[in-house]
Formats: sequence, structure tokens, C-alpha cells
Amino acid sequence: MSDLSNLEQSLLKAVAAAADERALEEVRVAALGKKGSVSELLKSLGAIAPEERKARGAAINALKERVTEALAARKAGLGEAELSRRLLEEGIDVTLPVRAENRGRIHPVSQVFDEIVQIFGAMGFAVAEGPQIETDELNFSALNIPPSHPARQMHDTFYFAPKPDGSRMLLRTHTSPVQIRTMRAQKPPIRIIAPGRVYRCDSDQTHTPQFHQVEALVIDEETHMGHLKWCVEEFCRAFFEVPSVKMRFRPSHFPFTEPSAEVDIQCDRSGGEIKFGQGEVWLEILGSGVVHPSVLRNCGIDPERYRGFAFGMGLDRLAMLKYGIPDLRAFFESDLRWLRHYGFGVLDVPTLATGLSS
Ligand code: PHE
Repeated sequence: MSDLSNLEQSLLKAVAAAADERALEEVRVAALGKKGSVSELLKSLGAIAPEERKARGAAINALKERVTEALAARKAGLGEAELSRRLLEEGIDVTLPVRAENRGRIHPVSQVFDEIVQIFGAMGFAVAEGPQIETDELNFSALNIPPSHPARQMHDTFYFAPKPDGSRMLLRTHTSPVQIRTMRAQKPPIRIIAPGRVYRCDSDQTHTPQFHQVEALVIDEETHMGHLKWCVEEFCRAFFEVPSVKMRFRPSHFPFTEPSAEVDIQCDRSGGEIKFGQGEVWLEILGSGVVHPSVLRNCGIDPERYRGFAFGMGLDRLAMLKYGIPDLRAFFESDLRWLRHYGFGVLDVPTLATGLSS
């Protein structure tokens, strides 16, 4: 059977010598293909004496197996070598500077979002999220807004078609359902902000059907309006990057807070720019209040033991104010010229230490 071991030697040598996958494929066809040397050997079995056939057949099959294995191993090795070669050749130098005209910009909404997360993060708030397609229960009923409540009309809700059981999903009209989701999932103390998209059927220079809000919720044993006021004030000073902001808490009504207040900040808009802490104009920036005991009860939290406050503000409105952007609709038009003008540098991540917007 030395013919077999000679053949095996030369085949293994050819496998080892194949320089690339194409050459290796040629070796495979020449050995194992229909007319390959190993296949021909197997065909020749029929012509030999039956008593020899068994041993020789086994020997040829063993040879075939070893050659097949060698082919597979070589193929894997060549694949890896090819990959390393391509990785080397096609490598990108990420340290090269980007060409200015190709540089992307961060949308003002994303920028303001990052700034807000920074500020509240430093105060110990975590970020919570909820879905944009919400149930009637979480968007309204659990927030103390029953089906007949007039506040529902004010929300200009986008509803989905009713389900067989008559209930309807909706696009959330505010981020307040995240309050409910959080209180049902976590035990107090709770300290979260929930930024996200909200929807109302409304459109003009200062309203778009889709916009952004940030909700804040604090639940603990000792919270009160004073904490709410401090939080809002600190936030405004940090966000607008001014030493002091004049604010006005106006009594208001939200079904899910009692008492409720809307917060205005004083500013001066003469001379084409906005200055805070002076001037004649009061701008409304958020709705707030002490969480209503019914809302706490709806979430299984004992109102005798815990209380809390919440506020919700329009993120787009904050971005317009801080960065002097006149028309809200432009936020959602994806106009690159607008984005280049109002956008922010990709690598200028806002931090409290280095300045939020510098
Ligand atoms: N969800 C209210 C709105 O969209 C704002 C708000 C949030 C008011 C939290 C009070 C407390 O107008």
C-alpha cells in the first residue's frame, strides 16, 4: 500500500503549499472531485479481489478523511490570514482630523437633553423611560383624570382604533405616565427624570404635533413644596448658566398634583437676545405640584407615609429660549443648513465642570 502513503504525502504537501483559497480549491478538486485521484482510487476497488477489497477500501477512506481534514484546517487558516491582511490594509486611522464639511452636528434637542441629564444627574436623579404608545389608564385615569374629565379635551389626544374590548391605545400626551410606571415598579425613595417624546394634535409657530418633555418625580417621607422650589431654581440657574433667575410660582391646576403651580421665569428679550433675571417678560417654562394622594394610592404607595412632588417641562421650549431659536417647527424639518447653524459639536459633550454649552 505504499502507493497510498505516497499519494497522501503528495496531497498533504499540496494542501500545505496552497497559497490562497483558489489554489486550495484546485487541490481539493484534483483529489476529491469526481475525477480526482482519491475518487479514482475508490472507483478502482471494484476491480480487485474481494478478500483484499475490505482492507484497501478502509485505507483509502481513512486517507480521504485525513486529506479532507487537512483541507478544512488549511482553509480556516487561509481565511484568518486573509482577514488579518484586509484588516491591516483597510484600517482607518481614527485619529485623523475630520474634514470640516463632513462633520455632523448635534441637534439642539439632543444637546438640551444631555444638559438636563447632567444637571439632574448631579442632584442624584436617575433617568426613567416609558413607551410613546401608551394606555388610556396610564396617560389619564391613573393620573386622576377619569374618562369624563375636561382635562382630556385640553390634551388634543391622538387615539388608535379601538380594540375588540373597546379600550383605545394613544400617543402619550405628556411624560407624566412615566410617573405611574416608576411608582408601580419601584419603592420610595424615588428620584427620577423622564425625558421623551410626546404628541398632541396641534401645530403653529410654537406648537408641533410631536414635541419633547422632561418629567421629574421625587417621592420620599419628607418632601414638600420647598424642595420643589429649590430643585426648579437650581435647575434654571444651572441650565441657563446664570448666577440667579427670577421666577414666579403661579397657582394652577393639574388633576394629578395638589397644590399645583406653573412656573414662569423673568427675562428681557429686547435687543435680539434673551437675558434672564431682568426685564419685563414672564415666560412659562413648566407645570408642577405636590403629587396628589389619589395618584400615590393608584400606585400602591401610602399617602400617609410618603409624599412627593413632580414637574414637567417642554424641552423644545427650553432649547428655543436658551439658544434663541425663533420657530419650533424648524426643529423637525431636518434642514441641514439649519442644523449646521444651530447644532452643536459632536465632541463637545456638556458637563457641569467644563460648562454646559461651551
Ligand atoms: N404633565 C403636565 C403637562 O403636560 C405637566 C406636569 C407634570 C404638571 C408634572 C405637574 C406635574 O402639562
